[in-house]
Amino acid sequence: MNSLLKIAVLAAVVAAQCTDSCPPSHATEGASPATYAHRIFHDFRNLDETGSLYQGEPANITTDAESAAAPVQEGYLTSDAFVRDWGIQTWGSPVSEDSPVRKQYSNQNVYIQTTDDSTHLVLRAYRNDDFISAAELDTKLSNILHASIRLRARVHGDPGACAGFFTYFDNKNESDIEILTRDPTDHLRYTNQPGVDDEGNEIPEASSDVVMPGGAVWTEWNEHRLDWTEGLSLWYLNGAEVVRKTYSVPTEPSSVILNLWGDGGSWSGEMEVGAAAYLEIEWIEILYNTSDA
Ligand SMILES: *[C@@H]1O[C@H](CO)[C@@H](O)[C@H](O)[C@H]1NC(C)=O
Ligand SMILES: *[C@@H]1O[C@H](CO)[C@@H](O)[C@H](O)[C@H]1NC(C)=O
Ligand SMILES: *[C@@H]1O[C@H](CO)[C@@H](O)[C@H](O)[C@H]1NC(C)=O
Repeated sequence: MNSLLKIAVLAAVVAAQCTDSCPPSHATEGASPATYAHRIFHDFRNLDETGSLYQGEPANITTDAESAAAPVQEGYLTSDAFVRDWGIQTWGSPVSEDSPVRKQYSNQNVYIQTTDDSTHLVLRAYRNDDFISAAELDTKLSNILHASIRLRARVHGDPGACAGFFTYFDNKNESDIEILTRDPTDHLRYTNQPGVDDEGNEIPEASSDVVMPGGAVWTEWNEHRLDWTEGLSLWYLNGAEVVRKTYSVPTEPSSVILNLWGDGGSWSGEMEVGAAAYLEIEWIEILYNTSDA
């Protein structure tokens, strides 16, 4: 048999095993192997071959009027491929008991920037006197049920911000990777919410404060990964398993959220007025199933 014919026969054999056309499937390796029917992938590197786009950092947002008027950066962030999968958030949250500083998300804190001869996505938080101008991206999908989420990221800036990559349904179905800029640069937080009980006491198994393996620090590029399967959450860093939890593994269809925020509270810490923090992302991949049959 010539090789072309062999390929055709093999393809026919594979096709015969599926009822209709074979759906794509994505297998994960590691201690939580699974197969997922769907994939979202965005690579923010090398988006500016001419070197003419995405030059500077957009101006910091210093008023609510600027925040409301800010458009989404033209280019990749307005492309069909990006808009299909992600929504840049513009909501805000008021001061509350453990959030002494108001928070307002803005289009202008999510942008592509050129550095180190490449490009990457940036989420920024900037502290004003009376509010923190923050950044958030949510998947358009809110029916993700089990996923392997991977991204390559680094964080720098003022020690009063929280960079989050997480699944979200509500505050009892939420699985988090968080980098607190007030932490030492080799510490990460992995949490399945709720982190506190109804009396406000911390639940010890909910949140882990981990030392990043292999001498890694979050100010440099690292590959973060959260595998959410039925009854098990597993966190990896640069391919190495770091933490597993069976406590409060989310059961509800969820969104995936990336954000960088601060509210002056005890978790994020308090940013200095006039200071900024940055979450930079080279790529993100989400292998997932949905709650739809
Ligand atoms: C995802 O769905 C496929 C069927 O489309 C199934 O074979 C697979 O086991 C599911 N993966 C997980 C992690 O539930
Ligand atoms: C935003 O604020 C930070 C912190 O003060 C500063 O380093 C940065 O240059 C500012 N960005 C712009 C575009 O001015
Ligand atoms: C998730 O939400 C469901 C429905 O509200 C709730 O019953 C459950 O306790 C929540 N948490 C987990 C981990 O399932």
